[in-house]
Amino acid sequence: MARAIAIIGGTGEIGLGLAFRWAQARQVVHIGSRQKERAEAAALKVRDAVGSEAKVEGFENREAASQAELVVLTVPLSAQISIVKGVKPALQSGTIFVDCTVPTAAAIGGRLTRTVGLWAGSAAEQVAELLPGIPVLSGFQTVAAEALQDLDHPIESDVIVCGDAKDAKEALKALIELIPGARYVDGGPLENARIVEHLAVLLISLNIRYGVHRAGLRITGLPEDLLPRKVG
Ligand SMILES: NC(=O)c1ccc[n+]([C@@H]2O[C@H](COP(=O)([O-])OP(=O)(O)OC[C@H]3O[C@@H](n4cnc5c(N)ncnc54)[C@H](OP(=O)(O)O)[C@@H]3O)[C@@H](O)[C@H]2O)c1
Repeated sequence: MARAIAIIGGTGEIGLGLAFRWAQARQVVHIGSRQKERAEAAALKVRDAVGSEAKVEGFENREAASQAELVVLTVPLSAQISIVKGVKPALQSGTIFVDCTVPTAAAIGGRLTRTVGLWAGSAAEQVAELLPGIPVLSGFQTVAAEALQDLDHPIESDVIVCGDAKDAKEALKALIELIPGARYVDGGPLENARIVEHLAVLLISLNIRYGVHRAGLRITGLPEDLLPRKVG
């Protein structure tokens, strides 16, 4: 069987959106949940949306991660550390790990429109500290779940990917380009996730201010072929 994309917390809004898009692009998708039944129900939703031929299955989180070449983490900050520790033993060597977490203060009972400071610098760097030897990337924070789930329209957003592993970025770029309207933008080293995660909180506040649900981000002025220069 082809190795899969595992979406940990794939029963939630953005995880399900990514599952829709990658299943539509004929990728093997494993939806992970703390409860297998919830994951199976989400897999059913994907088949309903995309078609019965969709290669999607539901698993408990650790099992989902065990057969994956790419693991995408889509859980709230409050659950991030425990979920990463839980799936860690199942990760195979060479697995790429993508963190989508937005560190909103809601995780500690605060406002959704404020960030919370993390000792590691960002939510993605917090994951990287927990997973030495695994290439950790950050991405999708500035993409709205609602836009991903709307299969009738392209998403009209850039996906800014931060990370230090060049090959892993190339692999994720190929998957991002399978999503209609999505544009991969190399956001530089993983430490730049600090900036992107904060921008995501700005987008949440814009959604609230303008009464919309899918504020996104497009960077202008980049070359058509998106060959980024090396920045120090
Ligand atoms: N929504 C967006 O548009 C968007 C965009 C970019 C980034 N993000 C980020 O992506 C992450 C997921 O966002 P979301 O909107 O998809 O969240 P969500 O709808 O609340 O779903 C998150 C999933 O995480 C799992 N989970 C594991 N531990 C949990 C816990 N302690 N409490 C609650 N859920 C837990 C749940 O799955 P099980 O119960 O099945 O285990 C749940 O379905 C967040 O960090 C968010 O900031 C969201």
